[in-house]
Amino acid sequence: MAMTQDDLKRAVAQAAVAHVPADCIVGVGTGSTANFFIDELGKIKHRIRGAVASSEASAKRLQGHGIEVVSLNDAGSLPVYVDGADEITRHLHMTKGGGGALTREKIVAAASKKFVCVCDASKLVDVLGRFPLPIEVIPMARSYVAREVVALGGQPRLRTGFTTDNGNLILDVSGLSILNPVELETALNNIAGVVTNGLFARRPADVLLLGTADGVQTLTA
Ligand code: 5RP
Repeated sequence: MAMTQDDLKRAVAQAAVAHVPADCIVGVGTGSTANFFIDELGKIKHRIRGAVASSEASAKRLQGHGIEVVSLNDAGSLPVYVDGADEITRHLHMTKGGGGALTREKIVAAASKKFVCVCDASKLVDVLGRFPLPIEVIPMARSYVAREVVALGGQPRLRTGFTTDNGNLILDVSGLSILNPVELETALNNIAGVVTNGLFARRPADVLLLGTADGVQTLTA
């Protein structure tokens, strides 16, 4: 029987468990693929000390499995962070934030020694930009940031009815051909009022576990 997208997500989540050292506090991402990983962590919960969550939703799911959720400030540096992506290239540059958790994801990733990205094969692209790029914005800066984004060639759209875990807004930006993600990540973050943007290029993933019909492929940058 053909594998579904969920089968591929489950397969990469299972493969990611091998990257979790015994007795550690593990960084945990957000989204449907990260949810499969949380469910796998539930099965090995006695082998880890706890987890740092990148969203309230992931914290809830971790706690539902009886896994202790630790604040990043208490945890210190983490050995590994496991999360999905909306798009990823062979350089392991990513667009993230489809679930709106990009800022906490970027913080936990930055505080982790190894970023293991878990994706089904549909996420692998040659150039980032087909998936609209999420930008988290302080509410009072919404219009200003939108004008600056237009000046950079993007078409911003406010994610309606959505507030981030940090109390901010998300602009989803389409129309960008992201040939230099490191440069664009920096330029967008330099706009006043931007909390962060969903490009993860300055700190790319270290390992990509890609779910394909032929099995889980491991890519490194
Ligand atoms: C959430 C994210 C997710 O990693 C991204 O949206 C992928 O989600 P999914 O695994 O459901 O496809 O960045 O902010």
